Amino acid sequence: MMDRLFILSLLGLLLVTAYGAAGKMVYADLDILEELETFDILLDDDDDTKLFDLPSFTSRSSGKNLVNVDTFGAAGDGVSDDTQAFISAWSKACDTPKSVFLVPEGRRYLVNATKFTGPCKQKLIIQIDGIIVAPDEPSNWDSKFQRIWLEFSKLKGVTFQGKGVIDGSGSKWWAASCKKNKSNPCKSAPTALTIESSSGVKVSGLTIQNSQQMNFIIARSTSVRVSKVMVSSPGDSPNTDGIHITGSTNVILQDCKIGTGDDCVSIVNASSNIKMKNIYCGPGHGISIGSLGKDNTTGIVTQVVLETALLRGTTNGLRIKTYQGGSGYVQGIRFANVEMQDVANPILIDQFYCDSPTTCQNQTSAVKISQIMYRNITGTTKSPKAIKFACSDTVPCSHIVLNDVNLEGKDGQVEAYCNSAEGFGYGVIHPSADCLYSHDDKGLDQSYKSETGHDEL
Ligand SMILES: *[C@@H]1O[C@H](CO)[C@@H](O)[C@H](O)[C@H]1NC(C)=O
Ligand SMILES: *[C@@H]1O[C@H](CO)[C@@H](O)[C@H](O)[C@H]1NC(C)=O
Ligand SMILES: *[C@@H]1O[C@H](CO)[C@@H](O)[C@H](O)[C@H]1NC(C)=O
Ligand SMILES: *[C@@H]1O[C@H](CO)[C@@H](O)[C@H](O)[C@H]1NC(C)=O
Ligand SMILES: *[C@@H]1O[C@H](CO)[C@@H](O)[C@H](O)[C@H]1NC(C)=O
Ligand SMILES: *[C@@H]1O[C@H](CO)[C@@H](O)[C@H](O)[C@H]1NC(C)=O
Repeated sequence: MMDRLFILSLLGLLLVTAYGAAGKMVYADLDILEELETFDILLDDDDDTKLFDLPSFTSRSSGKNLVNVDTFGAAGDGVSDDTQAFISAWSKACDTPKSVFLVPEGRRYLVNATKFTGPCKQKLIIQIDGIIVAPDEPSNWDSKFQRIWLEFSKLKGVTFQGKGVIDGSGSKWWAASCKKNKSNPCKSAPTALTIESSSGVKVSGLTIQNSQQMNFIIARSTSVRVSKVMVSSPGDSPNTDGIHITGSTNVILQDCKIGTGDDCVSIVNASSNIKMKNIYCGPGHGISIGSLGKDNTTGIVTQVVLETALLRGTTNGLRIKTYQGGSGYVQGIRFANVEMQDVANPILIDQFYCDSPTTCQNQTSAVKISQIMYRNITGTTKSPKAIKFACSDTVPCSHIVLNDVNLEGKDGQVEAYCNSAEGFGYGVIHPSADCLYSHDDKGLDQSYKSETGHDEL
């Protein structure tokens, strides 16, 4: 009798400890939840690099040194080769403090692949009001510049602005792509605009279009603000990502309208503290984190916020894509206030991503995905699987949080799919994401098992 009572009270004690532990887990979850709901990305905008008002620099008082490409012999007729004029004007502008590298409006400048390299004297403004076009024939492209058309690198505290257009004349490149015709070899093609290894960069007002491949890459840079930029390539142009962010931190994209044949925005390895605000996307493949982990590589992306977006007619909505066999992690992502119109795969985690001519095998290693929040996501889906979390069997997704998600199918049929995904929802969740498993349940299961273990003693 006594023994039994003793064991019972011991059991009670064990239960209290078990629930205590579970309680702690819940508190840790609440911390994560609060962090996911509230974290923000801010840039301390240096006043000196405030967007510069165009009319003011033509007046003497502005104290700017105007470097006009026309002064260096650019013809601006869309036919003559203006590359050398641009290179000469760049040297001058880069070497002169407070200069404005001006591409005047109303003209069309044909420019070859070019590297515009810094560091430059302080407060450089790159004012693009005219149209810059690339030569359209891939077979004449300088093989030294396989992956770039206009590349700006090693800049510090510069502003790109103006109402001009950067046009990659990409149609012949698209036709030569292996995505268009399987008998073509898979080759890389140039990116229209690249900002490389730079800091304190602002880009405002420009249009980037018809790129040979990706439209705009921000690479290995920090403190970059892109606002009111428009990106446009046809919906069927292959691999023409809108804005691609790699190896970069503290990047804000705001008020951008992007329509392309690939991801509107793609954020890949070694990128963190990225904010996207007021983004229009369509056509395109949606807003993506990844792909990551190709060929067993490490991919790390953390602290990304998308706030207020409209996606229309895209083939995916909010996507995280990783290859089997990768390592690293995606952690701390909030997608909020997104409206979907006729989007296929509105909410998608795909850890079985494969964009390779050969098939991809399942492996035990994977990029770990955790702390992903979807908040106030509404609208219509084109595919029945409005919510899909296809996570690695060996490295499950954890802390997937849904809050006020309401996606309607055209014919009323919508569902959620999960593989190996832990998380929870609150508020309205439609389709209901019951397929997410709760790690609290699992925790209680484990403590229950240890109780029965003790009972047998
Ligand atoms: C631009 O590229 C074309 C074709 O490769 C070449 O003939 C021309 O010399 C290049 N122009 C400059 C300024 O390098
Ligand atoms: C695909 O490319 C091959 C070789 O470049 C060419 O012969 C063929 O006509 C192309 N097919 C289409 C449908 O364009
Ligand atoms: C990803 O970034 C990490 C850290 O910067 C780096 O070590 C790794 O090599 C990168 N992976 C790839 C595929 O470039
Ligand atoms: C990736 O790792 C797997 C498992 O170790 C191996 O079979 C495969 O060949 C590797 N792939 C590459 C591209 O290195
Ligand atoms: C939800 O998102 C929409 C945009 O899709 C926005 O208009 C609305 O204000 C948001 N609601 C809340 C409560 O933030
Ligand atoms: C890989 O694993 C997933 C999830 O278990 C499964 O749906 C898929 O069929 C597997 N693929 C291959 C090629 O084995």
